[in-house]
Amino acid sequence: MNVTHLECAACHLRHEAQRLQNLCTECGKPLLVKYDLEAAGKTLSRVSLAGRRSDLWRYREVLPVENDENIVSLGEGWTPLLPATRLGEQVGVKKLFIKDESQNPTQSFKARGMSAAVSMAKELGAQKLAVPSAGNAAGALAAYAARAGLACFIFMPRDTPRANVIECEQTGAHVTLMDGLITDCGAEVGRRKEAEGWFDVSTLKEPYRVEGKKTLGYELAEQTDWTLPDVIIYPTGGGTGLIGMWKAFDEMEQMGWIDSKRPRMVTVQASGCAPIVRAFEDGKRFAEEFPNASTVASGLRVPKAIGDFLILDAIRESGGTAIAVSDEELIAATRAVGASEGVFCAPEGAACLPALKKLLAAGAVNRDESVVLFNTGAGVKYLEAFGEP
Ligand SMILES: Cc1ncc(COP(=O)(O)O)c(C=O)c1O
Ligand SMILES: [Zn+2]
Repeated sequence: MNVTHLECAACHLRHEAQRLQNLCTECGKPLLVKYDLEAAGKTLSRVSLAGRRSDLWRYREVLPVENDENIVSLGEGWTPLLPATRLGEQVGVKKLFIKDESQNPTQSFKARGMSAAVSMAKELGAQKLAVPSAGNAAGALAAYAARAGLACFIFMPRDTPRANVIECEQTGAHVTLMDGLITDCGAEVGRRKEAEGWFDVSTLKEPYRVEGKKTLGYELAEQTDWTLPDVIIYPTGGGTGLIGMWKAFDEMEQMGWIDSKRPRMVTVQASGCAPIVRAFEDGKRFAEEFPNASTVASGLRVPKAIGDFLILDAIRESGGTAIAVSDEELIAATRAVGASEGVFCAPEGAACLPALKKLLAAGAVNRDESVVLFNTGAGVKYLEAFGEP
């Protein structure tokens, strides 16, 4: 195992890796996993990857689990990077791609984070896992907890898409629906976890979901023959995928796999809940809670993200930006992507398309740059959002 320790992303205080941890004991910010990358690089190389298992555990040396027996897997990751030629022609971009995360177990990219987090929870002895969720994270945790034989307690807003509620129930989770938003659900988990003996698997409130999600960055590098795209457009709620990719790029550079060139990271949010966009525009490092958050893209209904400063740092360091699109735009985009490329996107993923159009119109993306849109989930889980047939 190549993990050396956990480190606070804000104050850099060192924390022990071999026990269950949530936030920094000093400042309450997220902990990130640190590796001995020189040791990892002895067996993990660009060449040694060929022929490895086709899920995210192919990057075994830079993932946190010590004992292989604790890996909880349903075949997550290694999703296709689909060329979107027809859509590219429509919008006028020559090299357009969709990273199709709807092909993961439980049909969203949340499977990556939960595979890593549940594996570590199992390894470090947790018995009961709890999570507040906008929907897809709940479905993923329920499935991975079942796979691991662990108990699972889910807290979701009452108006979460029905598919997410049903999948949790059918994979054996204890589901509580709450009036309010994901932040209210998080507060409820926080209030009760000690008495109930729950380990809190809220995103970035434990160190390992981001490790699963960082494999998006490793895959993107591998699938672009180690060149990486010029622009990544990512629908951002808690921001774990974006933060994870940014971490992966650094790790790969330290191992000598890529150079210092980075994609420009673009956050997309719904105009009804755009705290990161607002903070970016106001030049702030921390985002204020977004009032009256509302959007059909339930995964983007995150009014306050604990990793806000990490998202904003990555956007700024990369020369990227943050942009909001309306619900009308993202719902219309679902059909546009589906009809031209055959990918029935989650509304969150579809939001990347109107964002790209705005960036092109503003001259922030050049027509011959390579652009990756992240389809983070499956449209079929959001049937309510598309109205009656
Ligand atoms: C489909 C989908 N896309 C995007 C997001 C936002 O993800 P992140 O928390 O990594 O920003 C979510 C989160 O619930 C989601 O379910
Ligand atoms: Zn700290």
